[in-house]
Amino acid sequence: MRVPHVIPYQGSKRKLAPQILDYVQYKVKGTIYEPFAGSAAITLAAAASEIGNSYVIGDKFSPLINLWELIINKPDYVTDNYSKIWNAQLDDPKSHFLEIRKKFNDEQDPVQFLYLVARCVKNAIRFNANGEFNQSADNRRLGMKPEKVSKESYAISSILKEKTKVISGDFMQVLKNAGSDDFIYMDPPWQGTSSKKDPRYAYLLDLDELISGLAELNERNIPYLLSFDGTCGNKSYGRELPEFLQLKKVGLNAGRSSQAILLGRDDVTIESLYISPAMTDKNREKAKSREQIKLFS
Ligand SMILES: C[S@@+](CC[C@H](N)C(=O)[O-])C[C@H]1O[C@@H](n2cnc3c(N)ncnc32)[C@H](O)[C@@H]1O
Repeated sequence: MRVPHVIPYQGSKRKLAPQILDYVQYKVKGTIYEPFAGSAAITLAAAASEIGNSYVIGDKFSPLINLWELIINKPDYVTDNYSKIWNAQLDDPKSHFLEIRKKFNDEQDPVQFLYLVARCVKNAIRFNANGEFNQSADNRRLGMKPEKVSKESYAISSILKEKTKVISGDFMQVLKNAGSDDFIYMDPPWQGTSSKKDPRYAYLLDLDELISGLAELNERNIPYLLSFDGTCGNKSYGRELPEFLQLKKVGLNAGRSSQAILLGRDDVTIESLYISPAMTDKNREKAKSREQIKLFS
């Protein structure tokens, strides 16, 4: 099964998606929600393997959500406009990037945003205190080719069109209609990276808000999985979540970090995945093999 992908987003869960979806042992009757969507890696993997019937892609950063709307419903528009922006850079890629960055900060155009993500350093979006995109270009490459953007956008549209709602807003707003037949995957921005002066992503995480949101989702008996903290070698990042949430924590092997590879070290990143009480109940109910029963007991 090939999973299409079009937004090269730093922190994407694309590679970890199969490991994460191992913890959804059933076909979801209701809707699969991804309220911190970014590149929506889990929605795409779930849709490609038909784990769900309908999807909600949410994010607080509205140009990203407007981009998702276009990819799903107007892949032809994304193809044409990305192609124009990308080809116009060929004479002078450096100044073209700066020109599009300035335009994007004035107009918030979603396809300009896709070009900036594809061309910026490490595909890591960064914003200044005024909320302006301020990451620099990686001048060693030109960014994803228009043919690839076109192919992936059409493939995504074919698996998500007419099954997907996109919503721009805070995660609890996005989840206001979610219920116990639905499934939520959450990947809020790491604490370690959100408190710095020049933050990754457009919005910062408020830990208290996250904890009270999780408590409310538990009360509403909604199955969810949450990616949160982790360790790399002997360093740990993020903070443990409070016990009263009754989350079960498992470690996922995210492989060697690019930093470790660069330094020739073997440090492996282990990302934590938290399983909500309703999710554990649901998995236990549906578990068939002995191994699965052991995993969810
Ligand atoms: C770690 S990234 C998610 C990456 C994603 N899992 C992927 O595979 O690409 C976190 C995302 O949460 C969004 N975000 C930050 N605060 C938010 C909030 N309060 N509600 C909804 N989205 C938020 C950011 O704009 C960012 O796109």
